[in-house]
Amino acid sequence: MRNFVVVGNRAATTPDFSLEDIPGTSGRIDILCRCINSAFVLSHGIRRDVHVYLILRGGGSPKTIQLRGRDLRHLNPDERTTAALLKKALALEVDSNWTKSTPGIFVRIGDLANLEIFGDGATYYLREDGSDYRGLSSGADGTFVLGDHIGLSEEDEAFMTDLNAAIVSVGPRSLHADHCIVLINNELDRREAANRDESEIDGNGTKE
Ligand SMILES: C[S@@+](CC[C@H](N)C(=O)[O-])C[C@H]1O[C@@H](n2cnc3c(N)ncnc32)[C@H](O)[C@@H]1O
Repeated sequence: MRNFVVVGNRAATTPDFSLEDIPGTSGRIDILCRCINSAFVLSHGIRRDVHVYLILRGGGSPKTIQLRGRDLRHLNPDERTTAALLKKALALEVDSNWTKSTPGIFVRIGDLANLEIFGDGATYYLREDGSDYRGLSSGADGTFVLGDHIGLSEEDEAFMTDLNAAIVSVGPRSLHADHCIVLINNELDRREAANRDESEIDGNGTKE
């Protein structure tokens, strides 16, 4: 399973933002929508082996929205439709338990530190000055944590350190979070394909 966690430092926790001006009224939920697109959308389908967790901290108690690729429906490539799905989730009365919004989308009160996924496989914190992710021989599916336009706070960084997260970079330039997700997905796809090719080659060096 690939988990992508994106921290929305100012992302709205209520549905009262405008679909006509998502960047200007939602605390940059547009960034989170693009991350969802990059995490799930294939040319002709949805990646079923991906989960996305959005941490929204733009008012009141922080909320987390979870999107599960296996069950996800109604996801189109455009930001507006995705923002409408998030808006629907944010309109629900929730507590600290996951509440289903639409197929594959769940919401609850909770912050980064409340996620149960850490410790289940490796955790990678994506940061511009990290070690090259491509160079990591152990790189495989795991949990990838990214910031929005603001990045991660000092407290978040301390939390990543406590988790023993590997700090990794996807290249020498500072990129948008959604573009980083595309690169990670691509790298993992390539590794999976290479492993498949290897396992299909028999002892005589020929493909079975
Ligand atoms: C637009 S960047 C954040 C820029 C923000 N001003 C900062 O200093 O953190 C959004 C997120 O993308 C990720 N990111 C951007 N470029 C990266 C790179 N080359 N390698 C790894 N992660 C990167 C980081 O997680 C970052 O928090």
